[in-house]
Amino acid sequence: MAENQEWVELTVTVPVAAQDLVVDWLLEAGASGVQESYPGLFPADGEGEVISGDPSEWWGEAPKNKSGKVDLTAWLPKSYLSLENDFQGFLQRLEARFPGILAHKVSIENVPAQDWNANWKATWKPTAIGMRLMVCPSWEEPPETDRIVMRIDPGMAFGTGTHFTTASCLSLIEEIVEKTTVDSLLDVGTGSGILAIGALLLGVKRAVGIEVDLDALAEARENAVRNGVADRMTVTSAGVGSGEGQFDVVVANLVAHTIVRLAKPICQAVADGGWLILSGILAEHEETVDREIQAHGLKRHASMTEDSWVTLLYRP
Ligand SMILES: C[S@@+](CC[C@H](N)C(=O)[O-])C[C@H]1O[C@@H](n2cnc3c(N)ncnc32)[C@H](O)[C@@H]1O
Repeated sequence: MAENQEWVELTVTVPVAAQDLVVDWLLEAGASGVQESYPGLFPADGEGEVISGDPSEWWGEAPKNKSGKVDLTAWLPKSYLSLENDFQGFLQRLEARFPGILAHKVSIENVPAQDWNANWKATWKPTAIGMRLMVCPSWEEPPETDRIVMRIDPGMAFGTGTHFTTASCLSLIEEIVEKTTVDSLLDVGTGSGILAIGALLLGVKRAVGIEVDLDALAEARENAVRNGVADRMTVTSAGVGSGEGQFDVVVANLVAHTIVRLAKPICQAVADGGWLILSGILAEHEETVDREIQAHGLKRHASMTEDSWVTLLYRP
């Protein structure tokens, strides 16, 4: 959201079949984002609790939506209020195709003006990780410290070091670097670049960061420059296994089902005598990930857990 702009929050329930049309209309009208949640969404096996409407959090088959409805929440600039009648007219035109769409009230609430960026930035402070690193927001003066300071601006990307999944990967990288010489590291899902950059600052000679999100890719590049390691770090959107070769350390902080999907190229990228660090795994998916990785010939070496998150360490 743009800083200091006034916003309204619009909520409406529509049939799932009409969802794409309504979301497109709201985005065209200037929505900065539309959140979808599915009342009555159940796992495909029909058992258990209502689960997330976010497809990236689904495990296995797409869940069944018994209600056939989706709740949409859109954040729009206050100028949207002049388009309210247009939205009602749009819904009226849809009524012929999606009977009942008008039955649900459209509600609009003011969102108090805030500087979203500043609010978030104010909560993130320099953070010590492992024994040697200190992650410092790029806009803050680093505190007096003997630690190696890594300056990060994540932009919209994931990776500040405050989340256990990131911090545990950095700690394991540090432990490996303490034990042995690490020439190369592959970071699958580099986000802000924090793991690859941290590794380079700890003494790894070269790193490759792979990222599907082009905005994150740009942030990772900028962070590499910011930390003086850009000449030793390659950031690419090429898929894992597309010819980067093998690495002494491979780290992948992704979600469990992506790890399972990419297990083969990820495991093949680990050099003989190397290390594989996997994170972003919820405890309930640990066994599935573990089985998949061991099936590719790697042996479990260690693990770390916090709350429901698990980080796993393997060796060939
Ligand atoms: C949880 S974030 C991790 C960021 C950072 N490495 C860290 O540890 O904080 C996962 C990142 O992986 C990226 N990603 C997801 N699927 C991917 C894939 N198939 N290949 C490469 N990157 C992927 C996402 O865009 C996201 O930036």
